[in-house]
Amino acid sequence: MKTSRILVTGSAGRLGRAAVKELVARGHTVLGYDLRSTPGLPAAQSVIGSLQNGELLNRTAVGVDAIIHLAATPDDARFPRGPAPDDGDNFLSELVPNNIVGGYHVLEAARKNGVNRVILASTGQVVDGYLDEGKTPVMADWPTHPRYLYASTKVFLEALGSAYAHAHGMTVLAVRLGWCPRDAGQFAQIAADPDAQDVFLSPGDAGRFFACAVEAAELPAFTPMFVTSLPMGKMLYDLTAAKELVGFAPTDSWPTGAEDF
Ligand SMILES: NC(=O)c1ccc[n+]([C@@H]2O[C@H](COP(=O)([O-])OP(=O)(O)OC[C@H]3O[C@@H](n4cnc5c(N)ncnc54)[C@H](O)[C@@H]3O)[C@@H](O)[C@H]2O)c1
Repeated sequence: MKTSRILVTGSAGRLGRAAVKELVARGHTVLGYDLRSTPGLPAAQSVIGSLQNGELLNRTAVGVDAIIHLAATPDDARFPRGPAPDDGDNFLSELVPNNIVGGYHVLEAARKNGVNRVILASTGQVVDGYLDEGKTPVMADWPTHPRYLYASTKVFLEALGSAYAHAHGMTVLAVRLGWCPRDAGQFAQIAADPDAQDVFLSPGDAGRFFACAVEAAELPAFTPMFVTSLPMGKMLYDLTAAKELVGFAPTDSWPTGAEDF
């Protein structure tokens, strides 16, 4: 297998560390990009910077074969909102600068450096409305039906990826990731909810998916797809695109690796 030079944004986070670990194990050269240093990478390959620093992102993307874009504010501050005065949100303070402006800078860095493959971290929350309505399994080509503000920023990121793929000849995957708990509170939420266990994503499966996504030979210009571990009960998302296009099939199920925060 040909090895590649891969830029991973959000490389110090829950899924970023999983991606870095698997890519390094497979012999790829990984550059991390995060607000903090990336475990598992030498300092020279762990760039500390913000998504909002487009110039640094451009310099970091020189000579890379693929970008895995994971850095983001990964949820709403509150959902549902409480009554006033506890009815604030993180839209203007975090979601817009990190998820919308940041996504633009990442795709610009790819365009300016001729990076042909970009894997964007979206979320199952972009179709959460169908789960509420019991319309499952959700197919990847259905219109989005976002849960709230965070999911809406990911709908925008998917749209931006589609636009860049078609305008600039890139291959873009918008990966609607399942739920990999970031802390003990989220672990307890999934443990108490069988539906959440059906969309669990283990760090091991996440890492293997990202490696398959950069190694897959031929891909269409733009593809949205769902990625979870093996459902325990119901199939809530259609997982065939990841298998047929990227060659990824999950091997874990809840709770493998879930507490490995
Ligand atoms: N974990 C999940 O269950 C899950 C589910 C669906 C989608 N996602 C998406 O996957 C991605 C990774 O999620 P995660 O769970 O690993 O989150 P995380 O919070 O553990 O990691 C995110 C990383 O991004 C970095 N970051 C945030 N803002 C940044 C900025 N402006 N510049 C540079 N780095 C910045 C943070 O320092 C952090 O290390 C996110 O895009 C998230 O929306 C996660």
